[in-house]
Amino acid sequence: MSRDHADGGERRAPAVHQVTEDLVLVDVASRRVLAAAMCPHRQGKLKFGYVDDESLRIKCPLHYATFDLDSGERVAGPACDPLRIYAVLPEDGVKSSDLSALAGPPPTTPPEGTT
Ligand code: FES
Repeated sequence: MSRDHADGGERRAPAVHQVTEDLVLVDVASRRVLAAAMCPHRQGKLKFGYVDDESLRIKCPLHYATFDLDSGERVAGPACDPLRIYAVLPEDGVKSSDLSALAGPPPTTPPEGTT
């Protein structure tokens, strides 16, 4: 979906894609933001968040904590830690298939019975 913009150009509607269990990719305003998938308040799923492409913010669907997509700072809603932002990339800067590697390897736990 696209829409006209004040500068005469067209831009796509913002979208949130699940990259891994722990990461989402927010595609907004000609940039891609790789962020934690779960809200730091009470683990709301940000893949269902509301993205404002004018203010570059995402609002959690559970209790409406709102986070700045550049800094991760909470700007509205219930008190909580900032949203973890892993990377802010230009729209064409990185292929989607490469994004999970930016966050590093998944946490490892020792196999049962080895401790
Ligand atoms: S879980 Fe996100 S605001 Fe509460």
